[in-house]
Amino acid sequence: MGKWRKAVLSGVMAASVLAVPLSVYEAPIAAKAATQALDNKVVQKIDAEKIYQHVSALSVGIGERVTGSEAERKAVDYIAAQYRSYGLDVTIQPFTFQTYEEAKEISIQIAGHSGKGLEPSVFKYSPNTPAEGATGEIMDAGLGRASDFAGKDAAGKIALIERGGITFAEKAANAAAAGAKAVLIYNNTTGPLKSSLPSSGNYVATLGLTKTEGEALKALIEKEQTVTATVKVLGGGMVTKTSHNVVAVKKAHKNHDTGQILYVGSHHDSVPGSPGASDNASGVAVNLEIARVLSSQQTDTEVRFLTFGAEEIGLLGSYHYVSTLTKEEIDRSVGMFNFDMVGSKNAGDMIMFTVDGERNVVTNTGASASSRVFKPLTYGKVGRSDHQPFHEGGIAAAVFSYAPLEPEYHQPTDTIDKISKEKMENMAKVVGAGVYQIARKDTPALERAQVAPKPAEPPFEERPL
Ligand code: BES
Ligand code: ZN
Repeated sequence: MGKWRKAVLSGVMAASVLAVPLSVYEAPIAAKAATQALDNKVVQKIDAEKIYQHVSALSVGIGERVTGSEAERKAVDYIAAQYRSYGLDVTIQPFTFQTYEEAKEISIQIAGHSGKGLEPSVFKYSPNTPAEGATGEIMDAGLGRASDFAGKDAAGKIALIERGGITFAEKAANAAAAGAKAVLIYNNTTGPLKSSLPSSGNYVATLGLTKTEGEALKALIEKEQTVTATVKVLGGGMVTKTSHNVVAVKKAHKNHDTGQILYVGSHHDSVPGSPGASDNASGVAVNLEIARVLSSQQTDTEVRFLTFGAEEIGLLGSYHYVSTLTKEEIDRSVGMFNFDMVGSKNAGDMIMFTVDGERNVVTNTGASASSRVFKPLTYGKVGRSDHQPFHEGGIAAAVFSYAPLEPEYHQPTDTIDKISKEKMENMAKVVGAGVYQIARKDTPALERAQVAPKPAEPPFEERPL
């Protein structure tokens, strides 16, 4: 605990580990009414229509928001404009990442054979060939095991390898080590063969063929003895792209500043092929509405509203954000409330997840607020979202979501028609009340020390999603 933390917060934590019935901690009736009046300063202002409008702007107006795309940038601009309209201090934080771009030109030309030809696919992370292509004799390399190359001259040739026995990576590496210029791996079952090499290693251009194509080439070699081909893989490779986080700060009151920082976060990117209405336009929308409502309240705690890019490709935005915090800022950080998938009609009940399955000040606050303004919440253990980098950085964090997960998760069907205004509204009320409970300047210590209800089946179950 940093020296900046309010003493009362340790009260919350200390109380939470005691297995004492909740009633012991119930505040006197007058204090309870006062707490409710304060909750209402936030809860009654939450506007479900406004939340829904944000989901519509992000998932219908913009649509799929793939990391590093134009659409993701449009979402960033939309979010920044909203935060600015609430009077918050907004920064757009860029960061770069490496990603594999698939080759634009892929072909195999067999010398002396025109016609329809082959329709290869390229393996992910395949190196390119030279611009003029890789030309060489096709050699039948069996299953591509080291023994298949032993005693044979593969230098400068194109290795034709059948799927099976060993991994694609092993086949491709054996061929490259034997000096092959390119590798053609053909399927041993019906359908195209499209797979991936490891992201790094010593490989040459590697393509996939169907079983029919591979067997036809093999027959051609047997018939003609020497078959020469030119393989082209052009325009693929690792590229550097830029994604952005949005950082919107609500400063503490200048005369009532505890020095503490709270974070409210949500990712704004989505997976390719999905408009990401639930995952995670819903989380951004709830985040924006809490920001709107809290921006007109005085707080003695700095509240930073954050939306992250590149969550879907490895939590990159939130890792980047946490990496920019100084030790001094981390010491002043009280907790991080993360929203991910908070609006599907087809998901289960509201829940909080922590990375380690342990309760912390965020889940205690969430449980306490939920029992006042909604109904008691349970806990589970899940990382997989932007609370994880905060947890790893030593900041108490939890993701608020609904479990079990909806069937539309990461599908093209994650669309606005599956969105429940009520689920988002309840989430905004619970977390809005919780954040305000910590941040408001007039919170008496007693109220902050109210205890979270115990989880249904302590300590924690690993919840299936
Ligand atoms: N929203 C999901 C994960 C999630 C599921 C969060 C249930 C909270 C409750 C998130 O966007 C996602 O898909 N994450 C990735 C992991 C990430 C490290 C790339 C996943 O779970 O596969
Ligand atoms: Zn998500």
